[in-house]
Order: sequence, then structure tokens, then C-alpha cells
Amino acid sequence: MCGIVAYIGRRPAVPLVVDGLRRLEYRGYDSAGLAIPDRGDKMAVHKTAGRVDDLAARLPKRLTATTAIGHTRWATHGVPSDVNAHPHLDTAGRVAVVHNGIVENAAELRARLTAEGVVFASDTDTEVLAHLIAREFAAGERGLADAVRITLGHIAGTYGIAVLDATRPDEIVVARNGSPLLLGVGEREVLAASDLSALVTHTRRVVHLQDGDLAVLRAGGYEVHRDGAPASRVPEVVDIEPMAYELGPHPHWMHKEIHEQPAAVERALTGRIDDRFATAHLGGLGLSPRETREIRRVVILGCGSAYLAGRLGAQLVEEIARIPASAEPAAEFRYRNPVIEPDTLYVAVSQSGETYDTLSAVQEVQRKGGRVVGVVGMVGSAIARECGSGIYLHAGPEVSVTSTKTYTATAVAFALLALHLGRVRDLSPADGRRLIAGLRALPGQIAEILASEKQIREVAARWASYPGMLYVGRVRGAVVASEGALKLKEVAYLHAEAYPASELKHGPLALISPDRPVVAVIPDDELRDKNLGTVAEVKARDGRVLAVGHDPELKAAADEVLVVPRNEPELDPVLLGIPLQLLAYHAAVTLGHDVDRPRNLAKSVTVE
Ligand code: AGP
Repeated sequence: MCGIVAYIGRRPAVPLVVDGLRRLEYRGYDSAGLAIPDRGDKMAVHKTAGRVDDLAARLPKRLTATTAIGHTRWATHGVPSDVNAHPHLDTAGRVAVVHNGIVENAAELRARLTAEGVVFASDTDTEVLAHLIAREFAAGERGLADAVRITLGHIAGTYGIAVLDATRPDEIVVARNGSPLLLGVGEREVLAASDLSALVTHTRRVVHLQDGDLAVLRAGGYEVHRDGAPASRVPEVVDIEPMAYELGPHPHWMHKEIHEQPAAVERALTGRIDDRFATAHLGGLGLSPRETREIRRVVILGCGSAYLAGRLGAQLVEEIARIPASAEPAAEFRYRNPVIEPDTLYVAVSQSGETYDTLSAVQEVQRKGGRVVGVVGMVGSAIARECGSGIYLHAGPEVSVTSTKTYTATAVAFALLALHLGRVRDLSPADGRRLIAGLRALPGQIAEILASEKQIREVAARWASYPGMLYVGRVRGAVVASEGALKLKEVAYLHAEAYPASELKHGPLALISPDRPVVAVIPDDELRDKNLGTVAEVKARDGRVLAVGHDPELKAAADEVLVVPRNEPELDPVLLGIPLQLLAYHAAVTLGHDVDRPRNLAKSVTVE
């Protein structure tokens, strides 16, 4: 949520920061701005409501500064507007601040500063930071780092910040607490950004700042401080191709990422299959065979699609390993004073590894002495670090706000976990081999589904005119329906509700009408006839049905059919979800929506 980019070095900073903001725009996109030190100890600020392109169009041609901080916003306090856009300044226009997170005691600090005569220019929580830092300068001879450190001592809440002082254009101060911030270390230049995408075109040498870190950046290097004392943070070399952040021939990131799924699944499997023992090798879990055997329950925590991928994961663990498993939205979990059991394995799921609610749930488990591992996309992210062990997805960066390849890669990671847990217990080698063959078939089968995109596009173009849809499925199809409905809501802005098919007649059947069609997930499993019964009930009430399943003959029962290849029954849900991603994508395109930046949303939700 909110993107931050800062640059200090030898090159003109503005084009570099603008390019970084474009790459970070998926983190928030309601306004954008940047600050550079100007002559006369004042800051020059350019900012606007709207997109980074709107900002770029407003910038004067020749901006030669070699120091700049920039921001792309997802509004928390104050509507998206020019004045509420970051950076924010103190009254004298000397200090500029960009901020990601929430200052929880902003109202109290604002009242205090107002009583002292400060006049606020915006409605944001961030502006208090600029005034407080300026007040520290006024209080005595101190450098920017000290002024920021003292100010942060008065702040409750979360932040990733970058601060510039117009009188000291040779340094930028950044700090983090609960909101991601990384440094990119180049040749006589240092960058800071709220995620890798803004750094990797310049350098692969990256420092993941930790909560409580404050860093001073200069062209020649950086220093990190913690609790006022120096702290050592050595750069790691990240293994990401800059091309991973290029759109290539695809019209949207969501389209690109849907089509990257065969490769993402391939990578998620690489090096993790143990053919000799017909099991999965998951070294990052850090569990001995004895500890693995002692697991009596698996509880999976995440938000949004990560939670839904966790629900699919719970189903896989229970079905394959025969260990009771469930999934729960992370925020619900942390606030209901959960009972933490010593023989339960808690699993936190997150693409970004920065989702505040999920991170807090992890801390709740740890605080009560539970064991929690991560299933995480971003290497070195807060959740990955906090868990200390787990499974990395290796799906590559996901830029579209809507999760697609990460959802699928997470499902595959859980299939591997289920296989691993199952083979330590009673899953037979024959079943292990059967599932391994199924996992290996997934990339090719996903490619096969993607090859039928034209048919899905045509259905989506016709169905996008309905005001809403119901998604139904039983057992293995139920999570597929929930994730399909979330995708449609998120990008096509159509009301979509998911229900277990068995529940339809207990209420939602009242919604059935010719203009509220039903998407029915119908795998060829033991519940197929029951699902066909549901389709018949809908048809008998003049409803329209799109069936997603294995059997082309479903067309005898439904109005439209999307056929996917069969895998092993346990793994079929992974494939059944793919056409529903394309359905949502093409419905959104048909309706003319900004697919990669759905309204009101942002990629990683680092606030409560
Ligand atoms: C899904 O399409 C979402 N944009 C959203 O639900 C997302 O999965 C959720 O916010 C969790 O994010 P995370 O995986 O980065 O923790």
C-alpha cells in the first residue's frame, strides 16, 4: 500500500524516481508526487491526484537534482486530492516526507501542533511528521537523522518513510516500522523503495530494512541505526530478472500473470519432488520427521486470495495426509483470542509477505508459543522473516493487484506439503507416485486451458452484461467457486457470491432469475450427479448456467460449458480455477475497467 521511491547519487534523480513510481503504482494509485531540494533551502514539490503519468506530464522539463523522494498513494486519511498527495512539507517548506502506513495518534499530534500555531495544509496523518521533524530542528542543533529518530519516538502506528531536508541535499533519511522498505545499493548511488520492482533495474544488491531501523543514505553509501546505535545490514544479491517486471506483449499484468502459470507451477515444483520415496522434499520447513509425525492439526491463515488458497490447502492436507486442517482469515483469527495448540502446525500464507493482518496473526501464534511456518511469495519479506521457516513459492513477482499465479502456486505448495505430511504418515507410495505424476502434469494442462482462451473470452463478453452471478461448487469445487467469485468482484466490479452448491436450496435459490446466472464448478468426481441436480434446480427456475468441469457432455445440462483436462481428483481444483480467472479478466476488459488497478484496492495491504 503506497509506493515510496528515493534516490541519491550522481544521476538526475527525477526520471529515475518517476520510473520507480510507475513500477510501484500497483501499490496505490490515487495520487503521486515527488520532492527535490531546490535553491534557497526550500523544497520543490510536484504532486497531483491521479496516476504517475499525470504527475510526469506536469513536471518541468529540466530537473537536474541528483536527490529526490517520491510517492504513489493509496488513501487512508483524507480523500485523494492534490493537497493530500505526498510529499508533505513543514510550514517553512524545508522538510519533505513521504510515508506508507498509518500514524495512529495523528489526531492527537495534530491538535497539539495546531495549538502551537501550526497551520496544516492537508487532511493527512503524514503531515504531522513533517511539522514534528521541523520542530526538532527548531529545538536545537541536530541533524536530520536525530530529528527523525526523536520524532518517530512520538509516533504510534506503522510507517515506511523517506525524509529530505532542503538544507542537506546530500542525504536522505528513511525508516521502517511495519511497512516494507528496502535499500538498493549501486555504484556511488543508493535507492530506497517499498518493494523490489523499483530497484532491480538499477541494482540487485538489496538491504531488507527491519522494523525499528533508521538509515541515512548518501551517494557514497548508507548507515543503518537502531535504537540510536549503528546496526550492520549487509546487502544480499537478489535473484530476480529485471525482465520479470516487464509487461512484454501482454495487454495487462493480470493477463501476463495468468499466462505465466505453467512456468510458475514448474518453478514451485523444481527440486521438491523426491521420486525415490514418492514424497516432497521441503527443506525450508525445518521440521524433523518426528516433529512432522507429531502434527495433529494444520491451521492456515491468510487474507483474500491467500486465505482462499489456504482453504484449498486445508482441503489438500486433510484429503491427502488425513490430518484435520482448516483455514481462517488472518484478522478474524488474531482478534478472537484463539486457542493455540502445541501439536498444531500454523501456516501463514502471503504473496507480498507484508500483509499486516497476516503478520499480526503470525505474531499472535508466536506470542502464545505456537509453531508457525510461512507459505510466502517475497523472499526476505516481513512474514518470511518472522516465521523463519516455510515454503517459498518461486512464482516470480506478481504485479497485478489481482492474485492469479500466486494463488495457483500456493495451491501447488500446499499439495507438496500435503504429500510430505501424508508420506510421513499413512499415504502409500503408490498414492504418492500418483500425486507426483498429477503435479508434473499440471503445467501442461494449465497451458491447455490457456489455449482455450478465445472461447472463455467469448463467454465473458456475453456474460459481462449481467448485473451479478452466483458461483457454486461442492467440496472440491467450493473453494474454486469462492476464488472465482472474488476475481469477478475485484476486476469486473460485478456482484458475485459463492455458495456451496448444497446450500443453494436453503436460501440463495430465491435469487435465481434469467439475469442472475450461475457458474457451477462440476468436477467429474463422486459428487457430479449431485451437482447436476443443482444445475437442474437452477434451470427449472429459468436460471442460466455456465458449467466448468471435465465432461463436454455437461452441455446437455448447462447453457455454456468450459471444459478443463482431468488430473488426479485431489488436484483437480487447481485446474478448475484457471478458466474462472480468464472469465473475470475478460469480463473486466469487456466492461472497460482498469484491470491491473481495480478501484479502491492496492496490492499489498500493510495497514489494518
Ligand atoms: C486477491 O486477488 C487480492 N488482491 C487480495 O485478496 C490478496 O490476496 C490479499 O490482500 C492478500 O495479500 P498477500 O498474499 O500479499 O498477503
